[in-house]
Order: sequence, then structure tokens, then C-alpha cells
Amino acid sequence: MKTSVTELFGIKYPILNAGMGRVAFPDMVAAVSNAGGLGVLGAGSGAPEQTRKQIREIRTLTDKPFGINAPLALPNGKENAIVALEEKVPVINYSMGKGDWIIKAAHQYGGKVMASVNDVHLARRAQEHGCDAVIAAGHEGAGHVGEIGTFVLLNRLAEVLRIPIIAAGGIANGAGLVAALALGAGGISMGTRFWTTKEGPMHPNWKNKALELDVQDTIFSTRFDGIPCRQMKTVAAEQMASGRMLNLWEVFMNSFKIAKELEIPWLKLVKQTLSLGPRQIESMMRMSKMLKMHTITLTTGDLNTGMTASGQSVGLIHDLPTIAELFERILAEAKAAQQGVATAVAD
Ligand SMILES: Cc1cc2nc3c(=O)[nH]c(=O)nc-3n(C[C@H](O)[C@H](O)[C@H](O)COP(=O)(O)O)c2cc1C
Repeated sequence: MKTSVTELFGIKYPILNAGMGRVAFPDMVAAVSNAGGLGVLGAGSGAPEQTRKQIREIRTLTDKPFGINAPLALPNGKENAIVALEEKVPVINYSMGKGDWIIKAAHQYGGKVMASVNDVHLARRAQEHGCDAVIAAGHEGAGHVGEIGTFVLLNRLAEVLRIPIIAAGGIANGAGLVAALALGAGGISMGTRFWTTKEGPMHPNWKNKALELDVQDTIFSTRFDGIPCRQMKTVAAEQMASGRMLNLWEVFMNSFKIAKELEIPWLKLVKQTLSLGPRQIESMMRMSKMLKMHTITLTTGDLNTGMTASGQSVGLIHDLPTIAELFERILAEAKAAQQGVATAVAD
């Protein structure tokens, strides 16, 4: 395939995995890049030296281009972007913040930068800062998404941007790929579809649970971590969205574990959090709770206490293929969808 995105990154197919924190690990990244797409490491709030190790591990698993996502508003977000620059990662994807400094530094070594955006204002700003592409994340998607649906967002961004657009949110098959290309995207990024694969690191209970769910089985709320966020509809997610889950003592006890995990001194973490003001403190407390619940999806697989981000696209997922199989199928589906459209338009 040849699109603005395959040309920009030097890849075979315009398909990216979303840089999902604590989910898109080196195995998944290498599998996507080796299949001809662009694998993207999810640095999340992981410790910077851990991120450096993961980048180096990816380089032992593939010689193809790959990327990294750094959510700048999270603890360790900026530090992880700095590690990515030091390691000269070919593609850096920043989200939740302003990344002009990343663009400048990455361009010095020939790296490419893409910003995740969910409205026209953010997309224009990314282009003005010199971003090479944007990931346009629509309302249907998993995690921190905005109010605008993928269809409208893409169509509008194609009117106002000169740089390539990668569509995200609600895409899980070849028909979605063709629709995104028709609306002006140069490629797609998928989150939920990629964690429901053999390479996805979630416990089998969670992957099997995803197969049971339909498009209405997610919850979009600000109560998860203070920022509008879409999570899979489970017992714990429903409790958290109803506001009943914030136990101060539990959060306090959990903060020690988090400081250790993020390799940040506990006092520094508390000081940083307190300096953010009351609303941000509540948001950070919720995030720490989410982090704990996400760990359950990777370890014990307990469906009653764990929680994970999931897009509405969960209802389009009916099996757990390998990433290589998924690529083959999406490309076949895309051809069929394209022929279907060609026939309909010709008629
Ligand atoms: C488990 C999970 C974790 C995610 N973590 C991140 C993250 O760390 N940074 C980020 O920018 N987006 C993250 N996202 C959102 C994705 O980047 C993307 O916008 C979304 O998955 C697209 O919707 P889809 O799941 O329908 O494909 C995450 C998504 C999932 C499913």
C-alpha cells in the first residue's frame, strides 16, 4: 500500500498499534513492525530507565521502523520523551501536552513526530509546531478521548491540515481502514484490536471477556481519573464511575508502591502531586487507583477488581489472532471493502 503515512515512516502498510501504556510492550511493537506496520511502544508512566531497556529490546527484535508514545501529563511522561530522544527512536508520539521541544530535538537526528489530538485546535497547533503527522483520536476510542466522533473529526482535519492524519478510535478491521482512507486519513492506529491478540499481554480472562462484549459495553466518564476517559464496562469500572471507589487510606497506602514502581522518591511524588492543586490531586489519586486496577488485568485476571481502557470497537472483535494473522485479514477485508465501494459508486 502507498499512502502519506507509509511514505512518511517508510513502512509497508499504514497500520499502527496505539502506544498503550503498560500494554504495548516490546513483543507487540516488534510484531506490528515485522508485519509491515509501525509498532509503537507505550511508555505510559513507566520508569525512564525501564523505557530505555524496552527501546533497546525492540531493537533486538526488529530492524524495522518503530515508535514510542509518551503521555506528557503523566508522571515520568516528559522524562520518557527525553529517553526516546536520547535513544533516537525513529518516531515519537506525544499525547496530553505540548511537544514543540520534542519536534525540534527529534528533527535534529531525522526522527519523526506525531501528536495525538482530539480537536481542530490541537491539530492546528501540532502542525504549526512542525509535527510530521497527527493521530486523530475520536470519541469512540479507548482511554482519554474527546467529544468528537472519528468520522467528523477526520473529515474536518482533512480540510484544515497539510500533514498526514492517522485515524484512531472505533477501527478494528479492513472496512474501518478503507473508511478512514476515504475520509482523508493516511493510515490507522488501533488500540483495543491490538490488545485482543495472542501477543496482547492481558490475562486470558480479560481477552475472553472482550470477546463477549458489544459496542455499547464501555463507560465514558471523568470519574476514572478526572479527565474524560473510556473504559471497558466491568464491575469495578461501574463502581468507579459511580464515584464510590475513592478510599483515601487505600490511596495513601498505594502511593508507596507507585513511587517505587515509577522510581520516584515517595516524598517527591507527594510534593509534585500536592503542588498541582486540589483538582489535580483528586485526579492523581484516581489515576493511582486505575494503575492498580490495570495491573490486575495483566496478573491475576480477576474480572471483578480489574479495569482496562477499551474502545467501542470491542464489539467488533470476535477472536484472538496473532498480529501477523490480523494484518493478513485486515488487508483482505480492505480489498473487499474497497471493491464493494467501487461497485456501489460505479452503479
Ligand atoms: C489499554 C489501553 C491503553 C492506552 N494507553 C494509552 C497511552 O498510554 N497513551 C495514549 O496516548 N493513548 C493510550 N490509549 C488510547 C489509544 O492511543 C487510542 O487512542 C485508542 O485505543 C483508539 O481507540 P480503539 O481502542 O477503538 O482503537 C490506550 C488505549 C488502550 C485500549
